[in-house]
Amino acid sequence: MSVQAFAPRTLPAVGHAPARVALLGTGTVGSALLARLEAWHGTALGARLQLVHVANSRGSQVPGAASDPPHPGPASTLLEARLGLRGCRIVIDATASESVADQHAHWLARGIHVVTACKLGQGGLLSRWRAIRAAQQQGAACYGDSATVGAGLPLLRCLRELQAGGDRIHAVAGVLSGSLAWLFNHYDGLRPFSGFVREARVAGLTEPDPRDDLSGEDVRRKLLILARASGIELEPDAVEVESLVPAALQAAARPWLDDALPMLDAPLRARFADARKRGGQLRHIARLDIAGLDAGSARVGLEALPAGHPLLGGQGSDNRVAIWSDRYPRQPLVVQGPGAGAQVTAAALLDDALRFAAQDAASSSTCA
Ligand SMILES: NC(=O)c1ccc[n+]([C@@H]2O[C@H](COP(=O)([O-])OP(=O)(O)OC[C@H]3O[C@@H](n4cnc5c(N)ncnc54)[C@H](OP(=O)(O)O)[C@@H]3O)[C@@H](O)[C@H]2O)c1
Repeated sequence: MSVQAFAPRTLPAVGHAPARVALLGTGTVGSALLARLEAWHGTALGARLQLVHVANSRGSQVPGAASDPPHPGPASTLLEARLGLRGCRIVIDATASESVADQHAHWLARGIHVVTACKLGQGGLLSRWRAIRAAQQQGAACYGDSATVGAGLPLLRCLRELQAGGDRIHAVAGVLSGSLAWLFNHYDGLRPFSGFVREARVAGLTEPDPRDDLSGEDVRRKLLILARASGIELEPDAVEVESLVPAALQAAARPWLDDALPMLDAPLRARFADARKRGGQLRHIARLDIAGLDAGSARVGLEALPAGHPLLGGQGSDNRVAIWSDRYPRQPLVVQGPGAGAQVTAAALLDDALRFAAQDAASSSTCA
């Protein structure tokens, strides 16, 4: 981990102290965030955030402290000591760690803002989501979750602003996985599906183990976050998830995974042909019904969408999500755009962090 570039430097005069920031995770997203911060050095934006702690699973460091040996473990006490007791303090979670997600409510309760790309805080157990919400409501700290669903696309913001304006959300449905969007935008029913999976993996579009995408579990977490933001407090098992991974492929050991991938081919060829026969196109859809015939139902899986459906369209790994509400009862509001990737995710994390820094600088206690 090299964070020399973030040594506190002479900052432009901005009239208030910068927010003190701790970054957890230096992988794909964390590295993109560090690169973005580096590019801001010497600018007014860069002057608003001061990195005081950077950690991964192997240790932590104070940026710029060349003689400071890495401390073992990402202990929360060390992180809090480096953040200090006063002023605007922000933890950015760019890990996929349950133990870090377990700390979110604790930090909020101590007045430390939390900004996260990790879905485990709000998209996991309902008890953890409730603890985070309660800590937010009690304290003066805010929770930034723009990066968790749609990598910064204004999805959660739309849901919250519609409700703040008096609307009830009726339903939400959409393509929430960049990798599954890419696969079904490219799959033609002729070439084997497993070939497209290999291509997507080589391009870095899937998780290292593509079964993590194909199982639908990541999309389950995203749908839970959208549901809870829409006022529906679902437990994870209330979402029906159709995995695309046959049991035998799920059981394959990692070294044999590539040889086992063709197990995907026959079932998906059959699904594709069936959809085509009925004039539809296959898409991986997450669907939440709040006020319709199946009110309270939540489902993740493949659907054959008829031509002209609002969820068709979008390119490459675009996310595309439709929201029906009081003011959009028939023709939904559709949010579409790149919903995955390190660059947009890092940008979304920093958007939230800058917003909280600006709020605190304006001495506002309101969480936007
Ligand atoms: N990649 C994307 O495009 C994308 C998009 C949206 C959201 N996300 C979410 O963003 C998060 C990070 O994704 P990623 O792709 O950057 O993952 P990644 O490349 O696997 O990096 C994860 C980082 O977290 C660190 N880490 C693990 N446990 C930790 C702990 N207890 N304390 C401190 N650091 C810890 C890891 O440390 P080591 O380096 O020591 O292993 C690693 O640096 C995930 O929750 C993911 O779902 C990713």
